[in-house]
Amino acid sequence: MTGTPGRPGVPTLGEFTAGQLRRLCEVAHLDPEDARTYADVLTRALGPEAGRRLDLPPSGRTFLSDDHTPVEYSLSFRPDGPPDLRVLLEPGCGTATLEENGRAGLDVIHAMSRQWGFSTTCLDKLEDLLLPPSPHGPLALWCALELRPGGVPRVKVYLNPAANGADRAEETVREALDRIGHHRAFEGLPRGDGYPFLALDLGDWKQPRVKVYVRHPGLPAAAVGELSRMPAGPTAAVLRDFAATAAGTTGTDTRLAGLPVLSCHAFTDPAADRPSGFTLHVPVRDYARHDGEALERAVALLAGHGMDPAPLLRALPSLTGRRPQDGVGLIAYLALAHQRGCPPRLTAYLSSEAYTVRPPTG
Ligand code: TRP
Repeated sequence: MTGTPGRPGVPTLGEFTAGQLRRLCEVAHLDPEDARTYADVLTRALGPEAGRRLDLPPSGRTFLSDDHTPVEYSLSFRPDGPPDLRVLLEPGCGTATLEENGRAGLDVIHAMSRQWGFSTTCLDKLEDLLLPPSPHGPLALWCALELRPGGVPRVKVYLNPAANGADRAEETVREALDRIGHHRAFEGLPRGDGYPFLALDLGDWKQPRVKVYVRHPGLPAAAVGELSRMPAGPTAAVLRDFAATAAGTTGTDTRLAGLPVLSCHAFTDPAADRPSGFTLHVPVRDYARHDGEALERAVALLAGHGMDPAPLLRALPSLTGRRPQDGVGLIAYLALAHQRGCPPRLTAYLSSEAYTVRPPTG
């Protein structure tokens, strides 16, 4: 757990992120025992990288977060209780090649599947397709844990549709969906410019999803309303309002010209040709001058959707001692998620900033 002996006072990546996670657990009403368990789970999943002192630069250039910290948190809000806490991480972050990175990631997922007794059948079916020898970038495998009360998380795996080359991402997504039985799913996706992730729910989910993410660079603000393919999903007005508030745009003739908006399409029923879930991800950090502004927008959106913003206000100081207006990127994304049979959720993705804080702009 501790780093190389030497200069005292400099934490390791593992110590730093475990501390953040324990404090976030309190914000999310998880008890101290769960908080300790999950801090350990995170540290172990990071492998040897957890022991690396933070006065050394990050050993890899992961794009999981802007400053290359291989960890990102999220709080997923609902109208009727405390938010769910999740943590996204790159288990292979300390490896030298993308191939080893994927291998290390798989090892961690298999260790989790043994520990918590879930099946990896879906992932096994995709292994040679999405984790080929000599894979292309920009990622191999990320893992997200949904930190439920009781110390056993729900697990999600993020894979790279461009693993066989960006030019083959479309056929790779098609083939992946086909292999896991979602033969008609590909037809249910909107047009975009690339597929950044394919994600699988593993473990104890009521309805495990396969999710396809689509990138929409330069999207006209008005077109955000047309991205959902989910039957009885969010209306165009709901999506446009969310994006306009999150990105701080006014008027419908503007384009979202910064980092692209992502849409995410969740499939649960193999027979269906349409997704049962839709999420709109807005990279608020590229549309705000500083986190004070990003936070204001998040609070307005939460309040507007009938959700209590208090946990978000408590979460930021549990991650950093800096003031929100003194940097930008602590709130990385704001997302609006719809899933059949559930009330809509609003999610704030929160950076660790273990290495650097991006200065405010403007
Ligand atoms: N940092 C990457 C990005 O901005 C990947 C990522 C991290 C991401 N957290 C996310 C993408 C949340 C969408 C939503 O794309």
